[in-house]
Parts: sequence; structure tokens; C-alpha cells
Amino acid sequence: MPKEPIILGIESSCDDTSAAIIYGRRILSNEIATQEIHSLYGGVVPELASRAHQQNIIPVVDTAIREANISKEDIDAVAFTQGPGLLGSLLVGSSFAKAYAMGMGIPLITVNHMQAHILSHFIDEGKAVPKFPFLCLTVSGGHTQIVRVESHSNMQVIGTTIDDAAGEAFDKSAKILQLAYPGGPLIDKYARGGNIHAFKFGKPKIKDLDFSFSGLKTSILYKIQDSVQKNPKFIQEHLGDLCASIQYSIVNILLEKIQKAIYKTGIKEIAIAGGVSANSFLRSELQKLADEKKINLYIPKFEYCTDNAAMIAISGYFKYLEKEFASQNEVPSASLSF
Ligand code: KG4
Ligand code: ZN
Repeated sequence: MPKEPIILGIESSCDDTSAAIIYGRRILSNEIATQEIHSLYGGVVPELASRAHQQNIIPVVDTAIREANISKEDIDAVAFTQGPGLLGSLLVGSSFAKAYAMGMGIPLITVNHMQAHILSHFIDEGKAVPKFPFLCLTVSGGHTQIVRVESHSNMQVIGTTIDDAAGEAFDKSAKILQLAYPGGPLIDKYARGGNIHAFKFGKPKIKDLDFSFSGLKTSILYKIQDSVQKNPKFIQEHLGDLCASIQYSIVNILLEKIQKAIYKTGIKEIAIAGGVSANSFLRSELQKLADEKKINLYIPKFEYCTDNAAMIAISGYFKYLEKEFASQNEVPSASLSF
């Protein structure tokens, strides 16, 4: 049997600096340095993000190699996030990966961050992986997409947001509630025990499989501004109910469109990916839908939902098998599509 490759994955598209080592489809290490500094500013500050990547990249890669119990000479290829993402952040990871590949005389592999979120399902966890073709609801801080996945390399976006992403809707709502950044996990936490029907917010009317979240955000903002004017302690007194109702509204928009996509395509293999797929309400509501409609649902492990280099490494693995290597002339692209 041929030896499986060992690949170093590098992720630096937003505010997490991450390095992972994969052997075949098995993750040996997945190191992530999360940049806490952005919580002081209520969102990611691109200039600070690239500076922090610059500080973190070497220690993170060093630790990933050490944790994997390999030496740097064992690595067969370097895969890095080419985009989409913040250009200054992407430049750090791509420059590092190019220099590393050249220095070690090994192939370089470019990876699309959004495709990588989807391919994280193929990391060997000893459990079933989605069967082609499947639909993936990819929901992150920057994107909201329904993707029809035909193979590891052939994917089509069949629905996307026309304004904010689902993660952005969580984060912007959290900001209105005076919660720290990123607010998605906090809304998830405070929503537990809250009443999902306590408050009603505007529902978008967008055709086909596309999404919109900006109207919902405006409706939340007006409701809270009005209520705080009448009662300055409104947010504190109703935090659980507000979080539960906001979460319910966002998740409902996602559920409605995924149901429509299932109906339109007839595909009953469904996966979720991206940071928002860590949301407990989305997970449980999708599971209910899957049980009801006899759908095979694939939910990633928490650590592979938000940004991580393990998903870059597994994407690199599939390209390595196809010998799809990149040249040193490759540059990052903030709006890379597929
Ligand atoms: O995929 P990701 O780590 O980064 C991007 O590529 O954007 O996604 C980050 C997004 C943020 O908006 C964050 O608030 C959201 O994922 N998120 C959540 C949860 N965990 C992370 N949103 C709702 N509930 C969660 N538990
Ligand atoms: Zn992401």
C-alpha cells in the first residue's frame, strides 16, 4: 500500500491563526491561536489581525509539528488558505506557506476557505461521511451559503445571502444587546432557558434559495431602542428571552431555506459547516427535521466548526492525491469564489 502523505495546513483568513498536521485523513494536531484583542473593539480590526497573525504563525506551526510528534522533514506538502478572507491576514499565512514550501523543497497547495469548511466532514473520525451529491449549509461570520457538493472538488453555490451573513446577524444582534464579540456563542449560551416566542422580529421575503438578514437586524435594533427608552434595564431584565427569540428567528430563516433546497433538489444527504454550525439550537432543530423527513444529517465536531487548519489540511490532502499543486506565483484573494 502506498504511504499516505503528511500535510501541514495553515489557516489565517480572519482572526484565528491555526496550523494542523494531517496524516492521510487523520488529524495529528490542530493548533489555534485565537486573537482576544478584537473583543475590545466589538469586531475584527483587520490591521490588528494581520499583526497578531505575524506574531502567532511561527509558534503555532512549531507547536503543531511538536504535538503531531513528527519532524519538519516528514512533511510532504503545505496547504494554505488562499481566500476568501481579510487580505492582510491571508498574506501572512500565504507568505509563510510559500516560504516554507520553497525552503523545504515540497509542493504548495492552495485551499478555498469555504470549501474547506465543507471538506472538514471528511476528516477521519471513525464515523460515516456524507455521500455525494450532498447539500451543505455553510454558515459563518462572512458567508451563508447552500452548496451542492458533487465531489471533493466540484461544488456549486445554489443559495447565498444578499446582505449580512448568519454569523454577522448573531454578532450584530449581540452588539445591540451589549454583549462582547463574537456574540454568536454568547447568544447561544444566554438563550438556554429563554422563551423563543417572547419577541417577534421581521421576517425576510427573499425568493429561491437566497438569504437576507439585514432586515431582521434593523427590526431587532428598533425593538430594543424603543424598549430601552421606556425601561433602561430592559436588556438585563429580558436577556434570556431576547437571545432565545433572536436565535429562533435566525435559525428559522436557515431552516426554511434548507427545507426548500431539499425539496428542489431531492437530495436527502445534508451537512452543515462553518462557525454558526456550532449553534446548539440550529443543531437540535436540524436533527428534528432530519428525523422527521428521514434525512441523513452530518454535523461536524465543535472544533471543526469554527475556523481551524485541520479543514485546510484535509482539503490539501484531496488536492495532493490529484497532484493539484500551486506555483510560487499564487497570491491570496479576499473574495475568492469557487
Ligand atoms: O467560520 P467562522 O469561525 O469564521 C468565519 O469564517 O467567519 O465563523 C465565525 C462566526 C461568528 O459570527 C460567530 O459568532 C459564529 O460563527 N458562531 C456562532 C456560534 N459559535 C460561533 N453563532 C451562533 N452560535 C454559536 N454557538
Ligand atoms: Zn470560516
